[in-house]
Amino acid sequence: MTVRRVAIGGVFFVTVLIAAVLAREGRDAQPLPGPPLRALAAQRGIAIGTAVRGIEQRNNRAYRELIAEQFSSVTPENEMKWYALEPHRGRFTYNYADMVVDSARKAGQQLRGHALVWFDQLPRWLIGLGSDELRAATENHIRQVMGHYAGRVGVWDIVNEAILDHGGLRRSPFLDKLGPGYIGEAFKIAHAADPKAKLFINEIGAEGINAKSDRLYEIARGLKASGAPIDGVGFQAHLNLRGVPTTFVDNMRRFEALGLEIHITEADVALRLPVTAGKLRGQAGVYRRIVDDCLAVKACKSLTFWGFTDSGRSWIPETQPGMGAATLLDEQLKPKPAFFSVQRALGG
Ligand code: XIL
Repeated sequence: MTVRRVAIGGVFFVTVLIAAVLAREGRDAQPLPGPPLRALAAQRGIAIGTAVRGIEQRNNRAYRELIAEQFSSVTPENEMKWYALEPHRGRFTYNYADMVVDSARKAGQQLRGHALVWFDQLPRWLIGLGSDELRAATENHIRQVMGHYAGRVGVWDIVNEAILDHGGLRRSPFLDKLGPGYIGEAFKIAHAADPKAKLFINEIGAEGINAKSDRLYEIARGLKASGAPIDGVGFQAHLNLRGVPTTFVDNMRRFEALGLEIHITEADVALRLPVTAGKLRGQAGVYRRIVDDCLAVKACKSLTFWGFTDSGRSWIPETQPGMGAATLLDEQLKPKPAFFSVQRALGG
């Protein structure tokens, strides 16, 4: 082979390599107009966050850049769930979660760890355990995970979605085998594992004053009264065009009165597809209310959206067929009316 052919071959190889990397990485993000949400939120004294998908963040440059530019807090969407971190008993796989954590630290972002004790997305091995084994496995899981992230993940959802809509406790291996005391136990173990972390109880559908939030309140008050190390309560705020419950602010205030910090942890506003201009306007109005309600309550220190773009597989159609388009940016990462509405509300 001549030198020339080797050189041509080399150039070809490098070109293909660059093309492949570019194809995987995608383009730079189109800059979003106006000040970044994180700058506006900082002026109001709150963190503004998003759920992040680790694989997307690694592979898609525009997605990655927008997270760093717009948000001051990050929650791994699935990477810190039990099935992801401890798929086999006692064998922990931190690689995807670590990727999200490392990127967040580079971008100067806070991290919300999500979620340690939850009925869903559990590994198979856990389901069949008897009560003594489950207690030991739960303690070990919380200790190992919080120990691994001590000093890096400042806030944790310790117990997630423990309550049913009518106010009863939700069945799970934890409730069934450890009894209702599992909630308080989890907080104690968590505090021992990382005394500096802020520990939250997180709930879905408890935004308004209703049977579920009444029970959440009783649990939070009981934990406080018994000296359990609970720092805050998370309201997920998975909403739709029915809007924000009118009692959201009053509800947050009763938790504030217990001395708890409040985070809105998973806000999104699902639309029935197809999207229309009218629905997008309605969605912008609901987003504005979410921001305004958080700003109206002193203890509300963090507002996280459950994703910021309608691109990629969303969690909503999995659970609510026919619904979607719930976030601030469209599938091309272009701002929807909801984005400008959040920007204005924060800039207020
Ligand atoms: C969802 C994720 O967004 C999906 O990707 C996954 O398939 C299922 O879980 N409440 C929670 C979140 O606390 O962890 C859920 O996230 C959405 C509802």
